[in-house]
Amino acid sequence: MNIDKQEYDRTGKILSEKIEIKPESSRLLDNKVAIITGANLGIGQACTIRFIQEGAKVIITDIQDEIGLSNAEFIRSCGGECAYYHCDAFNRNDVKTTIKGAVEKYGRIDILVNNAGYNTPARFEEATPSQFRQMVGIHGLAHCYMIWEVYPYMKEQGGGVILEFGSKSTVKSSLRDPFYCFAKAGVGQLTKCLNLELGRDNIRINCIGPGAVFTGMTMTNDGKPIPGFERMADFSPRGYLAWPKEIAKTVAWLCSNESDYVSGQILCADGGLVV
Ligand SMILES: NC(=O)c1ccc[n+]([C@@H]2O[C@H](COP(=O)([O-])OP(=O)(O)OC[C@H]3O[C@@H](n4cnc5c(N)ncnc54)[C@H](O)[C@@H]3O)[C@@H](O)[C@H]2O)c1
Repeated sequence: MNIDKQEYDRTGKILSEKIEIKPESSRLLDNKVAIITGANLGIGQACTIRFIQEGAKVIITDIQDEIGLSNAEFIRSCGGECAYYHCDAFNRNDVKTTIKGAVEKYGRIDILVNNAGYNTPARFEEATPSQFRQMVGIHGLAHCYMIWEVYPYMKEQGGGVILEFGSKSTVKSSLRDPFYCFAKAGVGQLTKCLNLELGRDNIRINCIGPGAVFTGMTMTNDGKPIPGFERMADFSPRGYLAWPKEIAKTVAWLCSNESDYVSGQILCADGGLVV
């Protein structure tokens, strides 16, 4: 089986000619204010587009300002409500300024999508302490910085939704990736523990675990999939690998009221790879 080939632009430009916002009656996220980290490219960009289609107001945060500013402008030209903030997810001051600015602009934060991340795969015997710090920092401490800043506003306004980006590596080991697996497993436990702590404040938190997705993270600099990547389709019961918009659909549902009794879960969106 194969899905329609989709395109990916490494410059981060949104490739659609226009983003169609759904009719009001069928919007999953109407008027919700959402912050998406690492939203310029890949899965974060696809989530941004999907959230806009579903009626959300989206705050894009990232570190590549030119891309973020231009994508936000394009979304506004399509009738969507969107703002870009420079925010290195691993810089606590950036995070504080961004959340404060977002609340001043939109008055509340209903949804946080903690998506920013990357991977520098290495076998354990070749890997360095600096790689360990990077992996645990961006997927661990950086996620906490966001949650620490957003939580008081969500509590005060009576609730909210947090969506953590794990990976299939949250629940499954892999050969060349011990530090990424370590960090993503931690994202899973962070989700479960915060579910226990934040639930009484009407804050739901879940973790999505994408399988193998065609993005910059899984491509070489000349835009080709990294060696061996496409072979992973052979292990997938669905027989194909995902493009970002497949993941974005599930993220939108997990952040909507349609899943409002779902919390503390790790949901692998991986075509049935991990069971
Ligand atoms: N692509 C996959 O196969 C796959 C599989 C499982 C999980 N994931 C996870 O999905 C998430 C998104 O990955 P992707 O594949 O879309 O990656 P990507 O490389 O396409 O996009 C990552 C985005 O994060 C931004 N970013 C990087 N460092 C940042 C920082 N310090 N602060 C703010 N923004 C930063 C980048 O500028 C970029 O826009 C990550 O958490 C990743 O671990 C990806």
